Amino acid sequence: MLSKNGYYGQFGGSFTPEILHNVMQELVSAYTESRQDPLFWQEFTRLLQQISGRPTPLMFAENLTRRFNGPKIYIKREDFNHTGAHKFNNALGQALLAKKMGKTRIIAETGAGQHGVATASVAAKLGLECTIYMGEIDMQRQYPNVFWMRRFGATVVPVSSGEKTLKDAVNAALGDWTGSADTTHYVLGTVCGPHPFPEMVAWFQSIIGIEARDQILKEAHCLPTAIYACVGGGSNAMGCFGAFIEDQDVQLIGVEAAGEGIETGKHSARLASPDGSIGIAQGYKSFFLQNKEGQMSETHSVAAGLDYVGVSPIIAYLAEQNRVRMISATDVEANEALITCMKCEGIIPALESSHAFAGAFKEVSRYTSEDVILINQSGRGDKDIFNIAEALNDAEWKTFIQSKAEQNHGH
Ligand SMILES: Cc1ncc(COP(=O)(O)O)c(C=O)c1O
Repeated sequence: MLSKNGYYGQFGGSFTPEILHNVMQELVSAYTESRQDPLFWQEFTRLLQQISGRPTPLMFAENLTRRFNGPKIYIKREDFNHTGAHKFNNALGQALLAKKMGKTRIIAETGAGQHGVATASVAAKLGLECTIYMGEIDMQRQYPNVFWMRRFGATVVPVSSGEKTLKDAVNAALGDWTGSADTTHYVLGTVCGPHPFPEMVAWFQSIIGIEARDQILKEAHCLPTAIYACVGGGSNAMGCFGAFIEDQDVQLIGVEAAGEGIETGKHSARLASPDGSIGIAQGYKSFFLQNKEGQMSETHSVAAGLDYVGVSPIIAYLAEQNRVRMISATDVEANEALITCMKCEGIIPALESSHAFAGAFKEVSRYTSEDVILINQSGRGDKDIFNIAEALNDAEWKTFIQSKAEQNHGH
């Protein structure tokens, strides 16, 4: 979706320190030029096909459909991407742009680690130096991704300020960029941040919806009644929704993290709770979880990739226009949805994606067997094994971890 001078209604903009003005201008020019150049998109999709196996499948979830005895459920399988999530699409696109601008180094923030792994992998492939900023808490809860980033040759910098999660990693990456922009491109991982990031990331992720629209028309012979996607910053949602925005009959539903419950205050629902308000932070104007003085609040979600104070200005605008409806799912509902998916369909959605499933499952009774719903499985859940085992209080797993710790102690 195109902005008007970087704005979507009242949301968006580019609020950056003076020192970044030139580099932001350079980025806007490189992005605008690439968007008008069909060869850039051709090279991007060629590499996506070669490295990431695109197009990702659209799967008819026959068993879930039978279980709920309601709408036909289709799943867009972004978990098939190289490195395990939709994040690869954007990392590749921006790394190609960085090369075009003559940069030799890329940096990124990461929450769940999926964007970090995707960026580290692309850096290795394209011969770019790479530094990833990650909150210390996220490093603990997503350790498998930290391990892989380092193996790809990236430097992973633990961020110990603030809450030690995604917002703090974004601040650290912006700090690095302020001093290194001559050689470095900041590969922002979602549809947030100053213009042109929201528009540019939505463009790279639009491949999801372009494929899904084509696939569902071929397989279900109609457009979906509704599409569900989880919303952290909003990139998988915008990627999937993008191709359907003009189809007014297709309902678009974003699912935010309700954490321990909206009423507890321990959540990350900026739009689907009364707690979010309009503000300016991290270079853009949107809805944030903040106090009256504009100080960012603590957020919570079992899914590191949804645990973020801000939300895309594009989604804030579409929600204000009632084009996207925002709902939320709790940690418990997401865990339950994950287990349902595993047992019924033999798939492992990431904890982030499990929120999209939980949102859809809670609403199945709204639909009839004539309806078709599409759920975007943004990533795979293998990385979440520690969290899931803990959430399920799995006794066998605990014994395994304990015996590993004892073995290590003995060495
Ligand atoms: C698998 C997965 N899904 C969703 C998200 C949320 O990000 P976004 O809202 O930008 O898609 C993340 C973020 O790390 C992720 O790893």
